[in-house]
Amino acid sequence: MLLTLDHVTVTFGGLVAVSDVSFALKEHEVMGLVGPNGAGKTTLFNVVSGLARPSKGKVTFLDHDLTGTPIYKRARLGIGRAFQVPQPMHELTVRENLIVAQRFGTGHSDPERIDEILDLTQLGHKANRDAATSLALTEQKALEVGKALATSPKLLMLDEVLGGLETTGKRAFMKTLNAARERFGVALLMVEHDIETISNSCPRVLVLNFGKLIADGSPDEVFRNPEVIRSYTGGDAA
Ligand SMILES: Nc1ncnc2c1ncn2[C@@H]1O[C@H](COP(=O)(O)OP(=O)(O)OP(=O)(O)O)[C@@H](O)[C@H]1O
Ligand SMILES: [Mg+2]
Repeated sequence: MLLTLDHVTVTFGGLVAVSDVSFALKEHEVMGLVGPNGAGKTTLFNVVSGLARPSKGKVTFLDHDLTGTPIYKRARLGIGRAFQVPQPMHELTVRENLIVAQRFGTGHSDPERIDEILDLTQLGHKANRDAATSLALTEQKALEVGKALATSPKLLMLDEVLGGLETTGKRAFMKTLNAARERFGVALLMVEHDIETISNSCPRVLVLNFGKLIADGSPDEVFRNPEVIRSYTGGDAA
């Protein structure tokens, strides 16, 4: 297994953000993570990447128990992540952003891989431009994914990277993403609200609601599941 969560719970004070969640992800697997706002999706990513600690349970990545493992070591084991809000490093060019991410994630530099990422993300023509000021929204998102790819991940976690894009933009972005995923052989775990995108891209989908894992299956199965439908319509919010 690539990633295993074993009865993971994350609490903030009295709030249970992730509640007793268990699942396993194989190498190269593509999985969607969905659920209403506040369901615990980002917190689940945080507990894998090292920004949050489980109060109970265990996260294992390629046979490494990640309890107590710092963020940079998780990156070096192969956990890559792109954030909900793009976070380019200011006053650095697009290429420099990728170089810094690569050094952080791998401890060395590999200019060929950087060129390949620039190519795949279609950012080559902006490589020497300032990352914070000269990119359109789609390009900022492409850079966010590029930075994650620069860390040489075995697992790429994407948190709502498609947010704010139109349908055609989303489709184009998914195409790019799939090309990159296949080229570099990474598993993908993606949070996305758009059900069409998830259904088209992810053979397996997890659904969180109030921190609990309420469904795990094919898009057909989970989006027909009455409990999932209720969670989206707010039927069990009381
Ligand atoms: N650092 C924190 N301190 C306190 N509460 C937090 C913290 N981070 C998240 N929470 C709470 O934990 C719950 C889960 O939040 P989380 O951000 O993981 O949800 P989400 O599924 O990513 O939501 P969204 O779809 O809006 O991004 C929410 O109730 C949120 O307010
Ligand atoms: Mg979130």
